[in-house]
Amino acid sequence: MPIWTKESGPAAEAAGRSARPRHIAIIMDGNGRWARSRGLPRTAGHAAGAETFRKITRYCRDIGLEHLTVYAFSTENWKRAEEEVSSLMGLLKKYLLEAIATMEEERTKLYVMGDLGRLSPELRELSARALDTAEHVNGMQVNVCFNYGGRDEIRRAAQKYALDYAAGQAGELTEELFSSYLDSRSIPDPDIIIRTGGEQRISNFLLWQSAYAEYYFTDTLWPDFTPAEIDRAIEVCSRRERRFGGTK
Ligand code: IPE
Ligand code: IPE
Ligand code: MG
Repeated sequence: MPIWTKESGPAAEAAGRSARPRHIAIIMDGNGRWARSRGLPRTAGHAAGAETFRKITRYCRDIGLEHLTVYAFSTENWKRAEEEVSSLMGLLKKYLLEAIATMEEERTKLYVMGDLGRLSPELRELSARALDTAEHVNGMQVNVCFNYGGRDEIRRAAQKYALDYAAGQAGELTEELFSSYLDSRSIPDPDIIIRTGGEQRISNFLLWQSAYAEYYFTDTLWPDFTPAEIDRAIEVCSRRERRFGGTK
């Protein structure tokens, strides 16, 4: 039985099927190689990647996706040259300013997900403003993972839970309770995780949330990625049977 059939409604949902994916997550990889192949600096690849991100966001909104999560900067990406790191910070700033101004007309809410503590005060302030603005917007939610690492997210959640438990403010730890301490609280688990750029690894992305995600890997470098490939990922994944540990 396919994951996404024409059927929808509670019965189909209970059986693990729905009319379309609710949440797609993307590891946007390959910007550096895209730039190198053109004799350009890596930063030019990131600028081109940011344009692709804008285009893909609009497309996902138009097909009725509820959540789009993108991996933009990992907790390990600080290892890169200072110039590259600061250009990525600059792209986040530009996007945040743009999103705050246009969220309503674009019908897209923005949420920056990750450990914001290591970002500049300006980026932290803009991320908080984006969150406030998003409260009044109806539409698809875009979760931009920035200074995000799956292990770090789990570590931070465990620390918060331990403090609440010690203060008598949290009970026995269930999966549901633990999920509520993660950055992704209130976001459904991803149905599909796409990785561009040819590598077939998870690179510390959504470790907890990906338990039953379907993966779609493509050699396409992120700046070359197109809406047609979103359609293809959905189509390919819809032919797989999701069993969630059960049987047919
Ligand atoms: C992905 O592209 C974007 C970030 C990790 C910020 P890369 O910069 O990793 O591009 P490649 O993998 O070197 O081509
Ligand atoms: C993953 O890509 C992180 C992002 C896309 C933000 P990387 O390029 O950092 O991952 P590795 O080094 O190939 O595993
Ligand atoms: Mg890479």
